[in-house]
Amino acid sequence: MGGYPNAGAGVLSAVGATPLVELTKLVPGGGFRAFAKLEAGNPGGSIKDRSAHAMLTDAIETGTVIPGRSTVVESSSGNLGIGLAQACRYFDVRFICVVDPRTNTQNIAIMRAYGADVHTVTDKDPATGEYLPTRIRRVRQLVATLPNAYWPNQYANPRNAWAHRTTMREIVDALDGRLDYLLCTTSSCGTLRGCADYAREIGLPTRIVAVDAECSAIFHQPVGRRLIPGHGAAMRPGLYTAGLADEVVHVSDLDCVVGCRRLANREAILAGGSSGAVISALLRLRDRIPDGATCAVILADTGTRYLDTIYDDAWVAAHFGDVTELWKDETVDNAVEVALC
Ligand SMILES: Cc1ncc(COP(=O)(O)O)c(C=O)c1O
Repeated sequence: MGGYPNAGAGVLSAVGATPLVELTKLVPGGGFRAFAKLEAGNPGGSIKDRSAHAMLTDAIETGTVIPGRSTVVESSSGNLGIGLAQACRYFDVRFICVVDPRTNTQNIAIMRAYGADVHTVTDKDPATGEYLPTRIRRVRQLVATLPNAYWPNQYANPRNAWAHRTTMREIVDALDGRLDYLLCTTSSCGTLRGCADYAREIGLPTRIVAVDAECSAIFHQPVGRRLIPGHGAAMRPGLYTAGLADEVVHVSDLDCVVGCRRLANREAILAGGSSGAVISALLRLRDRIPDGATCAVILADTGTRYLDTIYDDAWVAAHFGDVTELWKDETVDNAVEVALC
């Protein structure tokens, strides 16, 4: 049989090698160039496909997970769950995802469509008032009681971070090695750790900017309620190490909405909440970025999973009031800057 070198073997061969595009309209008159890594191009629709694929294949290769016999159990608010649901289906591994009431119903439907079982915890942890500790407890219970069960534990699994060395390598290669700033959002810190490790290992001078949610515990903020899922964490992940980021920018839920809507209006890119976060962070830093610099932002997922929140005018008005002028009027750049600072 003849070979087809340009066709991948199976859906998981399409993980990675996502497009990098220049943002040509976002910052008119800016003296620097900004590029966006479109992670929605992964087959499961987000950056977490890279982590899911790397963690699962490692577990299969080491014999920890046996196709047809093992059950993978993980806590996820959506994207990693979808990535694992797809990869587990492909390898014929049962998958249970532990979620909480904040998880988007569409994400749950997608996981179920891949054959995953979804367990929803309903009680918040009494000590922290957060769902995450309760989700982790449920994962531990399931792993302790089910035969051949395995918890990838994205928050501490080195393969999660390892997967993102490739993300960074793809960006750097596409820019011929010239990258002055990288902005990426944080939750498990897999993206941040993998990108930072790769940059430092090959001696790049890139300034790594971590973009985290206000009220996220990763960089010492007091933990509080966050509306937009994806980035931020209620506990500091095991993958975090001091000095990972050269700089941290904290963004609010409204910053995410404004960043997303602005990206859609200006660049015709429909991206998820954490992408709005990095766009807002880039706009906040813009006066400090020297002329001629090259910046990259990682857009972690697609906006189609946020149509009934970030892209729904009624939802936005209910949570933030009438803020549409922050992105609708082309003449309000100054107002946007005020709102973002
Ligand atoms: C939409 C989105 N953005 C950003 C992140 C953060 O990525 P990481 O877990 O690599 O820190 C996640 C993680 O789940 C995510 O789903």
